[in-house]
Amino acid sequence: MRTSFLKAITPKIIPFLLLVFGCFASASADTIAFIGTGNVASTLGPKFAGLGHEIIYGSREPQRDDVLALVRQTGNGASALTPAESVIDADIVVIAVPGLVVESVVAGLGDLSGKIIMDVTNPTYTLESGLRIHAVETSNAEIIQHMAPAAFVVKAFNTLNFRTMLDPASAGGPVTIPLAGNNTEAKAKIAELAQGIGFETSDVGPVRYAHELEGMLVLYGNARAMGHTFNYYFRTPL
Ligand SMILES: NC(=O)c1ccc[n+]([C@@H]2O[C@H](COP(=O)([O-])OP(=O)(O)OC[C@H]3O[C@@H](n4cnc5c(N)ncnc54)[C@H](OP(=O)(O)O)[C@@H]3O)[C@@H](O)[C@H]2O)c1
Repeated sequence: MRTSFLKAITPKIIPFLLLVFGCFASASADTIAFIGTGNVASTLGPKFAGLGHEIIYGSREPQRDDVLALVRQTGNGASALTPAESVIDADIVVIAVPGLVVESVVAGLGDLSGKIIMDVTNPTYTLESGLRIHAVETSNAEIIQHMAPAAFVVKAFNTLNFRTMLDPASAGGPVTIPLAGNNTEAKAKIAELAQGIGFETSDVGPVRYAHELEGMLVLYGNARAMGHTFNYYFRTPL
């Protein structure tokens, strides 16, 4: 009696179990496209892969030796494609290119609707005097949000050096990454990534506050130009 019941129920329950566990699998492992293969992308890419995510580097030269070496170092099924190809299947797109080329790079990525876009860029311009200015009136994050209104832009990781990203302990205490963006779920997703690699996070409001976050590099650059180099970290009170 019990055996026949199991025989009858098993074919019905297997598709249900596959659906449930499939949903959990896709919720925990994302496909993350990094646009750029420089300091930030080559630091965060392998770390996010270490959390179980699949990394696709979007490079102007995906067959370049250093890009192929980065793909090998990243592992976990990583690959490199052109920027436009890399975003097609991505859940999260990380914009990690020089701050002044963001608009033209994002314009070449095609439809980003529904994707989370993590913007790490700092658009500063150095004057002849050596002092810096914020090169855009609003912020790169707001420009990206305007260009891709159905995407969920989160400003993150732009307030710390890539060396601190590589080794958070080098900051001598916990480092908090401020997150600015309009969508709470998108910020929670980026917070999960940041916390997964050893950082704390703090929601600092909608995407318009990316302007202040980007402005911090102006002060850093100015102090450096005047011979007073400092490092800075956000830190939750201990
Ligand atoms: N370095 C830091 O410590 C740090 C920390 C926080 C935030 N940021 C910000 O994060 C962004 C990336 O910084 P990064 O240090 O990773 O820069 P990077 O080392 O110069 O790398 C930038 C990458 O962008 C790609 N790229 C696409 N279009 C480009 C163009 N027109 N010119 C040059 N490169 C282009 C290149 O990859 P392909 O050649 O493969 O296309 C390049 O490897 C910047 O906006 C920076 O302000 C930097």
